Order: sequence, then C-alpha cells, then structure tokens
Amino acid sequence: MNILLVAAEVSPYAKVGGLADMAGTLPRAWSVLGNDVRIVLPLYGNIDKAQFGITKLDLLVSVPFGSWTEYAEVWHGILPDSEVDVYFVRSSDYYDRPGIYGYHDGFEDNDRRFMFLSRAAFEVARALDFKPDVIHAHDYHTAVCMPLLKVQYIHDPFFASTAGVFTIHNMAFQGFFDPLRAMEFCGLPPSDFYSGCWYEHDGCFNAMKSGIMFADKVTTVSPTYAQEIRWTPEGKGLQGALQSRSADVIGVLNGINTSEWDPATDQHITATYTPATLESKTDNKRSLLREVGFADDDVSDDLPVVGMVTRLTEQKGLSILQHALPQHLREGSLRLVVLGSGEHHAENFLRDLEHEYHHHVRFVRGYNEPLSHRIQAGSDYYLMPSLFEPCGLTQMFALRYGTVPIVRGIGGLGDTVEEYDPITVLGTGVRFYDYSADELSRALWRALRLYKQEPHWTHIRRNAMNVDNSIVHTAERYLEVFSWAQEKVR
Ligand code: ADP
Ligand code: GLC
Repeated sequence: MNILLVAAEVSPYAKVGGLADMAGTLPRAWSVLGNDVRIVLPLYGNIDKAQFGITKLDLLVSVPFGSWTEYAEVWHGILPDSEVDVYFVRSSDYYDRPGIYGYHDGFEDNDRRFMFLSRAAFEVARALDFKPDVIHAHDYHTAVCMPLLKVQYIHDPFFASTAGVFTIHNMAFQGFFDPLRAMEFCGLPPSDFYSGCWYEHDGCFNAMKSGIMFADKVTTVSPTYAQEIRWTPEGKGLQGALQSRSADVIGVLNGINTSEWDPATDQHITATYTPATLESKTDNKRSLLREVGFADDDVSDDLPVVGMVTRLTEQKGLSILQHALPQHLREGSLRLVVLGSGEHHAENFLRDLEHEYHHHVRFVRGYNEPLSHRIQAGSDYYLMPSLFEPCGLTQMFALRYGTVPIVRGIGGLGDTVEEYDPITVLGTGVRFYDYSADELSRALWRALRLYKQEPHWTHIRRNAMNVDNSIVHTAERYLEVFSWAQEKVR
C-alpha cells in the first residue's frame, strides 16, 4: 500500500509530545510490513539538517493557496533505522523560525502555516509521482487534508483512488480559526461556510471538526478515548460531530518502539536487565539518584522512587498532584524525580517542592531523552494522574522497564494498566478513578505498600515487563483501517 503520512511533528526531527513518537514509529513499522510509506512535515528552523542527512532536492513545488500560488522547496531525508523517505517542506515565511507551534497561544499565523503544509503535501506527492492509496493526517494541524482531498483534489485523477484517514491524538487542541482566512487558504468558497456546516463550530472554522467530518475513517489513539470523546465532555464540544461519524470512528491503541525502549539493550542506562535480572534496577536507581543530585546518604537509604517524564500542563494532573504530594513528602515515604517543562505555575510548584523537600524531590526542567530512559529504568513507580489522557506512551515505557505505573484509569491509561490483584497475582499497576487529591493519595499508599513486599513486588514488575505494547500490533491495525477506508473510495 502507498501511504502518505502528513504531520506537524515527527520524531526524531521535531517533537513536542507523543504525536511525534507515533508519526515516527508507525511509518517504520508499515515499511517493514512491505508498504511504500512517505512522510511530509515542515522543515522547521531548528531541525538539524547535518545530523539527519537532510538535503535539498532539485524540486520547487507550486502550492495553490487562496487565489494565488506560493512555492515550497522540498528537502529529503531517510527516517533513521528505516527505508522511509521523508520530505520536508521548506518555506522561509512559515517554518524558518525556531519552534513548532510557538509559545503559549501559538504563532498567530498557525492557520496559514499548517494549511500550507496540508496543501503542500498533495503537491509534493504529485511532483514525486507518488500516488497514495491513503493519506493519513494527524490532529488539527493537518486535519484540513481531509476536506482538501474530498472537495479539491477529488477532481484530480491523480488522487481519484486516495482514501483519507484522520487520527485524533488530542481533542484539547482543535484549531479554531477565522473562517474567512481559513476558507480562503483552503481554496474553498466563503459561501460553503455557514452555521452548522462541516467546518463550523461556535462560529469559528474548526480544523479538527473538518477532519472528523470529511475523513473516510477517523481513528483515535485508544479504544476508551474513542468512547469518551463521543459520549462525554472529553469530546470538548465535538461529541455531536463524532457521534454523526460513529460508524467510522475507531480506537487504535498506540504502541511503542520496543527496540528503542528495551531495558535489555538500552545504551542510555547504567545496567541493562530483563525480567529474570530485575535486581539490576537497583544499580539504575542509585545512578539516577546521583545524576539528579541527591546526596550519598539519600542515595543509599532505599526509599521507593517515583518518576515522571512529562509536559507540565493541566492535562497531566498537576492540580491534584499539587495537593496530594506534600503529605507523602512530609511522611518521607517516597522520593520523587520529575523531568519536564511547560506551564510556569507547574514549574514553579515543582521548583518550590524541591526546595522544601530537598532530601526527597528533584525537578529537572527541560527536555532530555537519554535522562527520560534513565528515569524509566531507575524508578520503582511511574506516576501519571492525568486529568484526561487520549493514550499516553510513557506508562507503556514504564511497563516495559518493570516500573510500576500509578495511573488514573481513564483514556488510554485504563486500556494499558491493569490493577494488581494480590490474590490472583495478575495486574501491572495501580489505578484510581476520581480526579481528586484524596483518591490519588490513596492510590499512592496502595502502591507503596507493595514496595518490596514479596512475592507481589516481583510479580507485578514481571507482569508489567511481559506486556506486549509493540508498535507492530498498532501498525497492523492501522493497515486494516486503511483497507476499510479504501473500500469507501473504490
Ligand atoms: P503527550 O503526547 O500528551 O505529551 P505521551 O505520553 O503520549 O504524552 O508522549 C510524551 C512523549 O514525550 C514521550 O515519548 C515522553 O518520553 C516524551 N517526553 C515528554 N517530556 C519529556 C522530557 N521533558 N524529556 C524527554 N522526553 C519527554
Ligand atoms: C497526545 C496525547 C497522548 C497520546 C499522544 C500520542 O499528545 O496527549 O495521550 O499518547 O498524543 O498519540
């Protein structure tokens, strides 16, 4: 199958969160399964061209945009550890600046930047004579690929048998745009925009809604989130649109790259290990504690370590953390290591917490992939008390590293972490449901009681390590969805 994946983030080139992981690992897996996969993303100013061997092609594509035409250079690279061709769209007006989305509210011209990317993707495919069987767009940024395919490119014989699949990674970001600008950039008559139309929500152009309404198939990143966004406020106002497409909405659980995330071979960690050599986690724990700056006495006293690697936003459960943690830290029952960056108040809270509980807390501000591996390997528990979580990847990394997840059982967290039962000795973690500091506290106590309590401590960690969340299963499921989408255009 010819698959054209268009996304605003693709790991390892440009990453803010899990979207990049998925847009980078799925193509590799599809390619191994025998498909011809091409990726299109912007050449952002801070992508290191030399590091990734990205070179300029002798190809300038013209992109119809509004009533005029703009031009984009096309650069090329090969996705590391794969044979997948990656095409970078370069436009000095849109992408030369550093950053992917811009800070806080985003760049003012994000409508224009991402609509340009979406239109350029079609033009790049045509210029390369690559006829996609499916165009796979992700989140609001490239959602308009779906109406572009069904309203504009439908008249182009080149795309006559191309199906459109749209994947929702996060309903919290929908791309609310000025309708006049958006319709113009998409080359659509302004009269097609009216109250209740497939582009409109609350009087704005809603890119996410347009993707949902025009796609042949809509997927989201876990089965539970697929239910939540249709039937609960997690749909963030688009429940009706999603319900109208119910027959075509499918939850496909994310997966992880099990070669990159493998405690038996991981080059970033101090001591590699398997389920049979779990005791080596202790070496990783000690070196992690030293690395983040705990004193020798603290390193040697063997308190349980709770790790977190995350964007610091409300989504990740910061408000209940803020109320639940101090009590546990006052009791001195755990050590906390957090790596992340994000909202100022969250960073300040963690900085203050580190200051106040200096023997128990370390907050490393920033983005650091090698350290994220060492936190997964060196922690005893991994904490993810999310307010909402479409899927979540870091709890899957934790499972693979035998690090017991403590999660709120919603969205993908509910689909990937099972409560440990000391009677049956089945289960992989600890879950709680109510979004409250008390519930989180109780979950922490429940989890901490398991620490080194044998045989449970060994069982729960081995159960976790034996879970198979490989991207290969996810990739196969997407191929099935792609074939259903294709049936709709035949
Ligand atoms: P989300 O996409 O909502 O941020 P996910 O769990 O799906 O959550 O994916 C987050 C991804 O970003 C994971 O690969 C995680 O390891 C990575 N990540 C998040 N914050 C950091 C950080 N500060 N340093 C390194 N990696 C990070
Ligand atoms: C989003 C979600 C996260 C999901 C990721 C990849 O950023 O917040 O839960 O794992 O996308 O699909």
